[in-house]
Amino acid sequence: MFGKVITGGHFANRSNELAHLKANFTSGIHTILISPRRWGKSSLVRRAAGQIETENKSIRFCFLDLMNVRSESEFYRHFASAVLKAGSSKMEEWVDDARSFLGKFIPRLSFSPDDISNFSLSMDWEEVARNPDDILNLPETLAKEKKIRFVLCIDEFQNLAAFDDPVAFQSKLRSHWQLHQNVTFCLYGSKRHMLMDVFTKPAMPFYNFGDILFLQKIKTEDWIPFLTTKFEETGKILSPEQAKLIAETAGCHPYYVQQLAQQTWLRTHLICSEDIVFAAWDSLQDQLSLLFQNLTDSLSPTQLNFLKAVSDNQTQMTSKTVIDTYRLGTPGNVKKIKEALENREIIDLSGKTISFLDPLYEAWLKRDGLQPG
Ligand SMILES: Nc1ncnc2c1ncn2[C@@H]1O[C@H](COP(=O)(O)OP(=O)(O)OP(=O)(O)O)[C@@H](O)[C@H]1O
Ligand SMILES: [Mg+2]
Repeated sequence: MFGKVITGGHFANRSNELAHLKANFTSGIHTILISPRRWGKSSLVRRAAGQIETENKSIRFCFLDLMNVRSESEFYRHFASAVLKAGSSKMEEWVDDARSFLGKFIPRLSFSPDDISNFSLSMDWEEVARNPDDILNLPETLAKEKKIRFVLCIDEFQNLAAFDDPVAFQSKLRSHWQLHQNVTFCLYGSKRHMLMDVFTKPAMPFYNFGDILFLQKIKTEDWIPFLTTKFEETGKILSPEQAKLIAETAGCHPYYVQQLAQQTWLRTHLICSEDIVFAAWDSLQDQLSLLFQNLTDSLSPTQLNFLKAVSDNQTQMTSKTVIDTYRLGTPGNVKKIKEALENREIIDLSGKTISFLDPLYEAWLKRDGLQPG
């Protein structure tokens, strides 16, 4: 399964990360979870939440996705709706809670006729923005009233940076949230630099807010039993060596491993082979060829040379040999290229290692995009 948040039996391992997250959630430690896109943040948080909810009825999870939230007043609208929804599963209670705790904004809940398990909330959002205390404290107020605890999971948290005056807004959030006794936050997203700025710079409001966790890819040895079992369950045979090949070809990138495995599975009648894996990987590159071509066309020749050096596993990018071999200009130039490629989320820098964020793009570049000359 790929392209959506993973549930049930499609989830591979991550037992350490799950245990860590669950311990934070149950003991009230705020968590900041960071990884590049599609490495499995949302799936992991949902998994931890699902397990805790079945074990402990007094902890309620509230999910808020900031993906399409563009302004402070939209934030309040989504935040209030999500918290109300998490506080109860009953229509009457939503209405009562809104009246009791947000009454001064004259809230209106509209239920759609075909799905009354859902509502949309309308209030005077201008007024809310001028005076957001009741909204920002809503999870704490509700938790106390209902004698429960909330874990508030906010996905794509980096989107806050695009609001007007983001630092002032973050101050507002923090000043309220740090007083909550019954609410634990899990804030996650994929823009590492931006999130690091928010959570590790002493001048920023969310400095030292919680436990920062960098989610890693899933290791080959964890993929092997997962993939071989999935094939076996459907009457097909994948050897451990072939499973390893799938994981390594896709760079252990959770999304691509699943996608490559699925393509391999489709092509396998009964018994898999290395050739099937290679053919599947090739066809994935073909499928995205147009997209990769456009991306490549938007890069400068020196940026492409730099990528070539990365795909040749060069590490000393500013050394004279590398600069000369790959025609990278000056060390200052190399620094600029690196920043530009990182900002565009093409490469990932962790410590001194530079790698492609997208293993399929790397493979495609080697195959089609980096003609010698
Ligand atoms: N534990 C896992 N086991 C198996 N596959 C996984 C796991 N975690 C993630 N994946 C694969 O990766 C894909 C992306 O996962 P998910 O949407 O959770 O990532 P994300 O980090 O939240 O991504 P984004 O930054 O785009 O929101 C899933 O659809 C699935 O194919
Ligand atoms: Mg996600």
